[in-house]
Amino acid sequence: MLGSMPSTSISITSRLPQVGTTIFSVMSALAQQHGAINLSQGFPDFDAPAELLDLMTQALRGGHNQYAPMTGLPVLREAIADKVQALYGARYDVADEITVTAGATQALFTAVAAFVHPGDEVIVFTPVYDSYAPAIELQGGTVVYADLAAPAYRPDWAAVRALVTPRTRMIIINSPHNPTGTVWTADDLAELAAIVQGTDILILSDEVYEHMVFDGQRHESVMRHPALVERSIVVSSFGKTYHITGWKVAYCLAPRELMAEFRKAHQFVVFTVHTPSQVALAAFMRKPGSYDGLQALYQGKRDIFRQALAGSRFELLPCKGTYFQCVRYGAISDEGDRTFVERLTREHGVAAIPVSAFYPGGDDHGVIRFCFAKSAGTLERALERLIRL
Ligand SMILES: Cc1ncc(COP(=O)(O)O)c(C=O)c1O
Repeated sequence: MLGSMPSTSISITSRLPQVGTTIFSVMSALAQQHGAINLSQGFPDFDAPAELLDLMTQALRGGHNQYAPMTGLPVLREAIADKVQALYGARYDVADEITVTAGATQALFTAVAAFVHPGDEVIVFTPVYDSYAPAIELQGGTVVYADLAAPAYRPDWAAVRALVTPRTRMIIINSPHNPTGTVWTADDLAELAAIVQGTDILILSDEVYEHMVFDGQRHESVMRHPALVERSIVVSSFGKTYHITGWKVAYCLAPRELMAEFRKAHQFVVFTVHTPSQVALAAFMRKPGSYDGLQALYQGKRDIFRQALAGSRFELLPCKGTYFQCVRYGAISDEGDRTFVERLTREHGVAAIPVSAFYPGGDDHGVIRFCFAKSAGTLERALERLIRL
């Protein structure tokens, strides 16, 4: 019998040679190792609504434990269609234009797999969420980077226009934006619409933070924009909305011709998604106000976070949405951002994410990201440590 697995003599050429372990896993592990408060990875440290957990238990006990339909449970797709229509005015067909996915990550990956051919170009904005580029590269696509220049992180639409070529197949957008907390305006969408007008460019719109937009601003979904909606694949995530990132349930919306292609890939990437979660979410979404409190909840946490740090040596960057607050730490240290967050974790007991991790070339603007989706007690303890720096 073999003991531990011998190292393989098989020669492989990595399809993702640049990719290592994600910074989120690295920082969470470091936080655990040093017993630090983990404000790095983007997940709440408080539980989902008790009612949702009860509905999940009922679904499990109620015999909903076999494969759901490939596209998702009809009751859940109906609830999604109604919600989207109420919020953004677009009516998606329940049968043909909505698919339930195993998290937003799978929806994003599947959308890229369904539409990007080898040699196609896909424009993404830096700093960029880490799953986009590997998804594109695995399809043989070319990633084209448009910069959201630090520290304002606003799109430069003339520069984006200059990046468009006959090979551009898709533009991936993300508002509210991880990691910067910026929120695009209706004018931004109008600029984007003008750039893609008359082309066959698709928009993949990652709107997982749709309910976290602050200060009375509204979420400018591509679904509000008739010229964009016909070419858009929209992704949202129950994980972010109901504090259940571990359930990995999300959804994707697109006009039927696009959705038909999406589903060709979806059925072989995952086929179908966890059934009891879908039963529970469908029932929960029908409760009035199931997502209404989210904006106030996170705006409150943002305000506590900002007020406490306002008197510190951290320089707060604007945070208009998401549950991330970016700061500059130049008044505290001139270390690189990775070195700084590692030391912050080890010596001061608070873990954060270096924003350089969101750039292909590791551009370091001396900015780090904290996640404030944490209970009042966790935030208080973390802030006590941070204001001392
Ligand atoms: C911008 C963005 N897109 C997608 C995801 C992934 O969502 P899910 O956990 O539903 O796969 C995240 C999670 O952090 C995110 O920040």
